[in-house]
Amino acid sequence: MDIREAYLNFFASKGHEITASSPLVPDDASLLFTNAGMVPFKSIFTGELPRPTPPRKTSCQTCIRAGGKHNDLDNVGYTARHHTFFEMLGNFSFGDYFKEQAIAYAWEFVTQILELPKNKLYVTVHENDDEAFELWQKHIEKERIYKFGDKDNFWQMGDTGPCGPCSEIFYDQGAEHFNSSEDYMGGDGDRFLEIWNLVFMQYERSADGKLTPLPKPSIDTGMGLERVMAIKEGKFSNFDSSLFMPIINEIATLCGRAYVYESGASFRVIADHIRSSTFLLAQGVNFDKEGRGYVLRRILRRALRHGYLLGFKEPFMYKLVDVVCELMGRHYAYLNEKKEQIKEQIKLEEERFLSTIEKGIEIFNEELAKTTSVFSGEVAFKLYDTYGFPLDLTADMLREKNLSVDEERFETLMRGQKQRAKAAWKGSGDKAVSGDFKALLERFGKNEFVGYTQNECKSQILALLDENFKTQDKLSVGQIGWVFLDKTPFYANSGGQVGDKGFLGESEISDTQKFFELNLSKITARQELKPNDTLLAHIDEDKREQIARHHSATHLLHYALREILGTHIAQAGSLVEFNKLRFDFSHPKALSKEELEKIENLVNKMIISSHPARLEEMSLDEAKKSGAIALFSEKYEDKVRVLTLGESKELCGGTHVKNSAEIGSFFILKESGVSAGVRRIEAVVSKAAHSYAKNALKELENLKEELKNNDLMSGISRLKNEISRLKNELKNSNSSELKSENIKGVQICVAKIESGDIKAMIDNFKNQFAKAVILLIQEKEGKINLAAGVKEAPLKAGVLVKETAQILGGNGGGRDDFATAGGKDSSKINEALQEAKKLIEKGL
Ligand code: SER
Repeated sequence: MDIREAYLNFFASKGHEITASSPLVPDDASLLFTNAGMVPFKSIFTGELPRPTPPRKTSCQTCIRAGGKHNDLDNVGYTARHHTFFEMLGNFSFGDYFKEQAIAYAWEFVTQILELPKNKLYVTVHENDDEAFELWQKHIEKERIYKFGDKDNFWQMGDTGPCGPCSEIFYDQGAEHFNSSEDYMGGDGDRFLEIWNLVFMQYERSADGKLTPLPKPSIDTGMGLERVMAIKEGKFSNFDSSLFMPIINEIATLCGRAYVYESGASFRVIADHIRSSTFLLAQGVNFDKEGRGYVLRRILRRALRHGYLLGFKEPFMYKLVDVVCELMGRHYAYLNEKKEQIKEQIKLEEERFLSTIEKGIEIFNEELAKTTSVFSGEVAFKLYDTYGFPLDLTADMLREKNLSVDEERFETLMRGQKQRAKAAWKGSGDKAVSGDFKALLERFGKNEFVGYTQNECKSQILALLDENFKTQDKLSVGQIGWVFLDKTPFYANSGGQVGDKGFLGESEISDTQKFFELNLSKITARQELKPNDTLLAHIDEDKREQIARHHSATHLLHYALREILGTHIAQAGSLVEFNKLRFDFSHPKALSKEELEKIENLVNKMIISSHPARLEEMSLDEAKKSGAIALFSEKYEDKVRVLTLGESKELCGGTHVKNSAEIGSFFILKESGVSAGVRRIEAVVSKAAHSYAKNALKELENLKEELKNNDLMSGISRLKNEISRLKNELKNSNSSELKSENIKGVQICVAKIESGDIKAMIDNFKNQFAKAVILLIQEKEGKINLAAGVKEAPLKAGVLVKETAQILGGNGGGRDDFATAGGKDSSKINEALQEAKKLIEKGL
């Protein structure tokens, strides 16, 4: 039985619209990841967005719980049913049916479609929810209904957002298989398995903790696919089900060890984490030092440390991506499209981490040498925090030596870190906007964008908002706010293209953005503005043309990258402005000069080939079938625009040139790394390219003038020659300052020097005379350096510096003709010089 299909079809037959799974990165800055099936519908529950028709939906939503409020990361592997990545089946009612029907639907599905035996089912309700308690009794005996408090039977998405009391359905896996003291209804044991949570969505929790009743009580239910799958397959752990076993078997083959449930935590950790890593990477999240990318990094590293316990010393996780794609690719086709790229990114991250593991083990060994019985909690924490060693890995390594670790200290430090991490995430989200959007949507619907074909039009003001998006009767002269027009030529910032600027009548438009499907322009009133006023809306054409050229160029660049570097290239972000473009893409290493040149050449070739742009509207499916490139993170309407420009074909809602020749020319300014596996190209086209070239030429002219030479290379080599001549002169001038005397035909010099290259000065001195002995002392950066040179004289430089250095409290030596030494006591320098002189005179 395909449980996903059975569930969605069942609820479709009950009037629910089937909705595709939304991205794992939610459109909600207060959340780290989509952590429940209801997340995509949050704004409908809270009433910020109007209720859809029909007001019922059903979905199979991919979820991640690895940070924030619902964080299961540390439990994964050690329990039968925690996962970082899982699929949640859900049915949602937006102010439509409530408790009675939600309970009836759930019961029908569980008993008639899943055919779970009634005598194995239990339910729980909130202790104050008498209504649910009554309603359940229509289906199940009173004795099988348990009441629990807020901890078990109240659900909320995050610290803020929609929430309400809930009711859960449990499946009894049988006393014969479970006998821990926690294996009772409500206990922590595994015997009673919660399979479905029905949330009676009644409140919204605000940041101060207050509960406000929602406009319409709603329903949000969530059934864990992995759990139900395991039950249907008669397994006691989700990991034993067909969703995981193929991955676990592959791990066993790769490491050459058999999987045994009791000691198999590491296998389970890896099997779980490869699923979340594969999905996150496929959806465009990359390994990073912070935010979501950091959570992904922690997930992968946790798996790698467990891999280390299984004996993997080389990258191996990337080899598991194939099994994940095989298992899940039928339902999530994008996995197959991104497979090779995901493997490459994981392998690279594995290589990066393997070098850290070795460093961690070095630190472990250093501490081990100092440990007699209990290993330091601080060091164990440092190993965890900086080098990613879980406590059990450290404990395991200590076990071999019959040592233990200070777990208490470790836990204290860990708690501190968790609080810091929580605080860090809270502070890092973008400001979530709220305002009168819903009222506008309900009253006027979306407004029309006419800017694909028109640069200006007569527009009527439907509404005026202040800077906090609250509706106003008017905007007075000088006031800044937002204007909502019936039809607008201003493009709202999206798909990387910045919003249009321009004028509405006399008033300036400085930006245009989309809020909940409403196209709003930021305006500074230069005359009093009132709803119903009809004025001429006019975009800044010059800027828009430039923006269009840069936007079309990003499409050509995307195409060229895939041509030159390979089809693993996937767009990871872009910014299109009037004076530059920025394009981020997945690629494991920096681009070489040759690659950049090839890319630049190909884009320019496409530009001068004068390809006419073809824009077509079609369904998303048709667009994908036609081979157009689409982005995972973008939300597309049912009808999409596809731009064909030469060989490039992409889904795009942006504004573009009519012919590639309008782009003029294309220059790459810079290539750099954004995060692990993601590169960035910054480039300019058309007028911006022209001024870039002009500036570069101007700089060259300035250089020529400065060098007083039209041939730059010969000017530079002249300068180089000059520098080396001066360097020589400097050396000579230093040494010519040295005082020397002739004793028995040998030129002698013993001196302290202030500056200069001591070795060069000695060489230089020796070059000037047929027979020479020289000893120099130099004090530099708190150290005393000595060097001596001997040429054609009965003395040894090594002996000379050694004996002199001893006077200075140091030591040294070397060859007969040249030797160096160091000293410490600068108060003895004069004495040392005198002694050296005597030594030389004696030796001659
Ligand atoms: N939101 C609830 C949960 O995640 C039910 O879908 O458990």
